[in-house]
Parts: sequence; structure tokens; C-alpha cells
Amino acid sequence: MSEQIRSAENYHRVTSYRRNRLAHHTLDWANQPVAVKPYPTLPRIYLDRNVELPKINYFKMKKNISAGDDSSSPMLNLREISKVFRLTHDVTARAMHGEKPFYYRSVASAGALYPFEIYLAAHNIHGLHQGLYYYNLFEFSLSPLRTAPIPELVQTKKRVLAAFFLTGIFFRSAWKYRDRAYRYVLLDTGHLIENLRLALGALNYSFSIHFDFDDEKAATLLGLDPAKEVCLAVIHLHGNDGVENTTEKTQPLEPLDSDILQASSVSNMEVEYAPILQMHQAGSIGLKLTTGDPAAPAFLKKRKPRWIDPGPMDLPDKKDYFHVLTTRRSRRNFISASVRPEEFYTFFHQIVRSMETGAGILSGSQTCVTIGLLAGEGLPIVPGVHLVDPSSQRLGCVLDGVFLERMAMACLDQMWLKHVAFHLVFLADLACLDRMWGPRGYRVAMMEAGRLGQQAYLAATALGWGACGIGAIYDEEAADLLDLENGEVLLYLIGIGSVKKRRT
Ligand SMILES: Cc1cc2nc3c(=O)[nH]c(=O)nc-3n(C[C@H](O)[C@H](O)[C@H](O)COP(=O)(O)O)c2cc1C
Repeated sequence: MSEQIRSAENYHRVTSYRRNRLAHHTLDWANQPVAVKPYPTLPRIYLDRNVELPKINYFKMKKNISAGDDSSSPMLNLREISKVFRLTHDVTARAMHGEKPFYYRSVASAGALYPFEIYLAAHNIHGLHQGLYYYNLFEFSLSPLRTAPIPELVQTKKRVLAAFFLTGIFFRSAWKYRDRAYRYVLLDTGHLIENLRLALGALNYSFSIHFDFDDEKAATLLGLDPAKEVCLAVIHLHGNDGVENTTEKTQPLEPLDSDILQASSVSNMEVEYAPILQMHQAGSIGLKLTTGDPAAPAFLKKRKPRWIDPGPMDLPDKKDYFHVLTTRRSRRNFISASVRPEEFYTFFHQIVRSMETGAGILSGSQTCVTIGLLAGEGLPIVPGVHLVDPSSQRLGCVLDGVFLERMAMACLDQMWLKHVAFHLVFLADLACLDRMWGPRGYRVAMMEAGRLGQQAYLAATALGWGACGIGAIYDEEAADLLDLENGEVLLYLIGIGSVKKRRT
């Protein structure tokens, strides 16, 4: 009998890729999952795709991100909500895949399968009735699922004007990646979180991000079939009027109709993968929040890096954030070229700053995910494996040598990865994570890796470089290469560097 999955370490091991042991799998194109939930009987409220977006310099954005900041924010209405969605999840390009059109989006996604969805709870939005809405990015519309005041899933002190619920639909990714798909659902949702976090910061809203809530209540509230679609993150948009949250009288939650639940099914031939369900359910007990300061990142504690202080940045001229967001794409046409030191350090600081506690992320996230960097020969730091200490904003070398080609091999022989300037790697000590947060910690760690991955894509785009996320990894080969110990794993990797310029 196959083992019951109860921990991050367990799930990650069971879903590892091993060379010469990948089971053959053909894609069932006739039953490809649908890319959007249809809800055909619900009315539509159309958002304004032509809404004017503020001009925001990507490199100056970090200062604007002020989760919990009490600065005055714009009144929340449908125009503002249109801006939030335009900046969070939108179509950015169209291509023909055979006879069918395919739409690229502002969020990177493993296999372009886009397993995530966004729901909006309107508590106090001018021009929009209180209730719960589904966001359809193709139509740029909202469909009302509930039309009465709805209870908050997470209790916070500050007044909540709107809440965004980010869900993941397992089969969208499992259609291709089978039981490994939970990894990609979480990483992809992390990518989406970063866009939403940046959008709210850029529009000057105060917000908070939550990963700890009652899964069952979330499924009832959103009308999800919990074996197929699950809520992964809740983002509150707060009022900045100093008014504290008062618990408004709301009706007890009635389950939504069965046809709404049915919309979590995205294919006529769905397969349920036990490891995914087991791992997700193991996390349903909630985050085991430890008291006191979280331990220093396990990776940094165990190793003795040769620290260096990064050099100065060279902030390029204005880079319009919307332009960066909409031109972000996965690039694989890397060319071996040296990187200007100032640009490299600019990139480094962009990443480190988005790990600061003021960035609105869960405190302790720095502990659960450690960023490393496999430097090639064209960087201002020695070739080798370096670790990032976000608190002191330093880089430290732990292994000397050029590892890019061997890592490309460990990434299922995607050999174009050897031409990048560096691999950004997201590492975790899963045993430590399981101890610190319990099995739900896996969700947080993977979404955090994805979130930082989206930031890496954006920073690379703004610097005129290319980037590509990599989830296809022979897990043990990568761990051996990085000299990882038992329980330590590579969660995700991004190849970054100069690319052949495209003719536009
Ligand atoms: C979690 C994750 C894993 C990915 N893994 C790979 C990979 O192993 N190989 C690859 O070529 N692209 C990979 N990608 C890139 C996706 O294929 C790409 O994001 C998708 O096709 C959408 O295209 P776009 O990023 O240009 O919008 C990955 C992306 C993400 C977010």
C-alpha cells in the first residue's frame, strides 16, 4: 500500500523526479482543462479595461509598498478595482497554438496551465454591492456568487474594504504534472500573489496577506469543491481611515448551489492524485505558529559563508511598471555575456527588498526559504554557490566553481540553462519547516518561492535581461550538486541572464 503523506518532506520525496525513472505520460488533449470557470448563468459586471493606470517607476516601487501604512489611499470604487486587476492578472499576448488561440498572462505559470483563480469579497467598494465575486480575466468581468454581506475568513483589527481570495485548481496542473502538480499550483499562486502585492502597493493601498484560515469555511464561502479547488491565500485591502474593524452582522454561510461547486471541475476526465489531496489536507490543521523569534535561516546557520557586501546599485532611468509587467515573458534564448556589476547589484537589492518584513509577507518567511545564487563567470562575484542573507543584505560564497552546466543537466537536461549568467535557487530545509510550522508550512514556503520568483522575472525584465522559471528538476541530482543535507531541498530555480534581442 502506498504511504499516507503527512509532511512536506514526505510529499516532496514522493513527487521527486529521478533520471531514467520518469513514468511515460501522454497528454490527453481531448480533455484539456478549461482555462477559466464559466459560471454561464451568472450575470456579469464589466470592469474598465481602459482605466488609466498611474505611471510608476518599477525601480522606485519598493518605497510605495507599505502594508499596514496609514497614509491616505484612494477611495475604493470599481475604477480602482479595475486597476488592481489590470496590474495583477491580465492577458498580455496572444499566439496561435495550432488552430487555437493561446493567451499569455502577466503571471508566469508552469506549463502555462494557470491553475489559479481570484475571487473578490466586496465589503465597502463604491458602485459594487456587498458580496462575493468571481474574476474572469478574459472578459475582464466580475460574476456575483453571493449578494449579501459576507463574513471575513480571517479576523483583522483594521477595517477591510475588500478581500481577495486566491485559489488553486489541482487538475489544471495535474493534467500534465500528475502528483507533482501541487508544487506548481503553489509556486504559480506565489507568482500571482507578488503581482497583487505590487499592485496594491503601487496604488497606495494598505494590505495584509494571510495563509492561515479555516480551509473548510473558505471552501463553503467561495463555493469550491474541496477535492478539486482550494483557497491558498487571502489578501485584505484595508481602509486607511483609522476605523477599526467592527464585526458586522452577517448571515450564517449557506452553501452555494451545486452548479457553482460543479465549476471547480475543469475537464470531463479528471484524475484525483492522492499525494496532492493528502498533502493539502495535512495542512488543514492550520499553521503551527511558534512563539518568539524564528530561528535564523537554517541554511545560513549550518554553513559558514564567506560574506561580501554587495557593491553600489545603478538604478536605470525610469522603467514603467506596467510596461515591465506586460512585457515579462519566459526567455530561453540566453547568450553568454558579462553582467555590469551595478546592474547585478541592482537586481540583488530588488530581490532582497521584497523579502523585508515591511513587504507584507508572513514574518518568518525569510527563515523558511533561503535564496541562493549559482554564479557563472561573467558576474562581479566569484563563480560558485552563494547564499543570500536578507537581514544583513549580504551574499556569501559556500562552494567555489562553475556549476551552471551541471545544474542544467539536473534540470531535466534543459541545456540552454548553462548559458545564463546565474541561477537563482530557492532552498528549504523541509524537516525544519515541518517542525516550525507543521505541514501547512509547505504551502507558505512554496508560495514564497513563487512570489520571489515573480519578482525576479520582473527585475530581470526591467534590466533588459531574460528569465525563466524551472520546476522540472531531478531533485536528488540538484541536492547533491548543491551539497544539501538530509531534508534540505531545491524548491524552485530561475535562470537569469542576457538574451538575444528580439526584433520588435
Ligand atoms: C513554477 C514554474 C515552473 C516552470 N518550469 C519551467 C521549466 O522547467 N522549463 C521551462 O522551459 N519553463 C518553465 N516555466 C516557464 C513557463 O513555461 C512559462 O511561465 C509559461 O509558458 C508562460 O509563459 P510566460 O512566462 O512567457 O508568460 C516555469 C514557470 C513556472 C512559474
